Amino acid sequence: MSVLNGKKILLGVSGGIAAYKTASLVRLFIKAGAHVQVIMTPASKDFVTPLTLSTLSKNPVHSSFFNQDDEDAVWNNHVDLALWADLMLIAPATSNTLSKMTTGNSDNLLVATYLSAKCPVYFAPAMDLDMYKHPSVLSSFTALKSFGNIMIPAESGELASGLSGEGRMAEPENIIAFLEADLESKLPLKGKKILITAGPTYEAIDPVRFIGNHSSGKMGFDLANEAANLGAQVILVAGPTHYKAKNGLVKVINVVSAQDMYDACHEYFNDVDVAIAAAAVADYRPKVVALQKIKKAADEFSIELEKTKDILASLGAIKKNQFLIGFALETENEIENAKLKIQKKNLDLIVLNSLQDEGAGFKKETNKVTFIDQDFKIEPMELKSKESVAVDILNKVVLHFAKS
Ligand code: CTP
Repeated sequence: MSVLNGKKILLGVSGGIAAYKTASLVRLFIKAGAHVQVIMTPASKDFVTPLTLSTLSKNPVHSSFFNQDDEDAVWNNHVDLALWADLMLIAPATSNTLSKMTTGNSDNLLVATYLSAKCPVYFAPAMDLDMYKHPSVLSSFTALKSFGNIMIPAESGELASGLSGEGRMAEPENIIAFLEADLESKLPLKGKKILITAGPTYEAIDPVRFIGNHSSGKMGFDLANEAANLGAQVILVAGPTHYKAKNGLVKVINVVSAQDMYDACHEYFNDVDVAIAAAAVADYRPKVVALQKIKKAADEFSIELEKTKDILASLGAIKKNQFLIGFALETENEIENAKLKIQKKNLDLIVLNSLQDEGAGFKKETNKVTFIDQDFKIEPMELKSKESVAVDILNKVVLHFAKS
């Protein structure tokens, strides 16, 4: 999945022949799952029509401070547009637009919006080869880079003038690749490996029966997707569940029993930076697993159970630098029990679920959690979707690495 998926992109088109290529650019953004709004300078409309770009972007195109055709002229709020965007790309960026950007000459909607933008701004210059090397243009590049804007260098090739050299706007595919590589390199968990457990475990009684629980696995899968979206390399050890990882970069290891989950976790743990135990692991399993289906006979029947290994505690016992997060599902003395689990399992953070909280727990779309850290700092959170809880948990991970 592209890192551009779900991103809100503001494309500023200025007036150069390369503007015709923005049709492909918008199409590639949409294909990558991005939301696109386009701002055109008046001059750019000579090279590509607003109708083309609005059709491809599935949004109206903005080009003036107010819509002249409307009976009650509606102001195009450049501040709102700028704040809407996750990133702004000016492509093609002509020497005229670049120079206005450096001096703050906001006589058109594109430059006014640029000046209001708080998001990262990229620009892809396009001009003839001599213009591209002119000191005045080079000083625009230097100034914009000093503002923190990111230049997508022009490419070499045949130019509209008939001359050949550097100055062609980067090809749309290359602009997309540039943005993806740049955004990926800046993801907060880039380079980190995270091990996550999810779902229930099934403990066999005989070949057809098992002891299980109602965990759906949603919390663990949401964590895995979110961690991958933040750039982490994710290994998700999942008990039986119908969930699939939305982010194709998540490596899913399917297991059945607590022992399988234990083995899989220990295979990867030494190599990871973070481990999050979101699975509802069975605490007991049948001491003996019948090889054949147990036939109905006596009126009463009991199964002798033995303890499973505590996976999280076993990871806590061998952890080196790993940031270790556990969950605690409690029905009474929640905070005290959770604190004991932090100590017993050598955790850095525990995510406490109380079944007494409405909307929390198994088979729910929502969760209400309280964070407790190693120093017993308690942070109760609001009731939220499990996706939002996953975001909160991973923010703690990001914060941990930001501090260390
Ligand atoms: N856990 C685990 N392996 C087990 C049992 C639990 O890794 N065999 C992990 C869970 O994934 C969770 C944490 O331990 O992150 C706490 O689970 P919980 O069921 O709340 O607690 P238990 O340790 O099983 O204790 P109890 O059931 O007595 O509350």
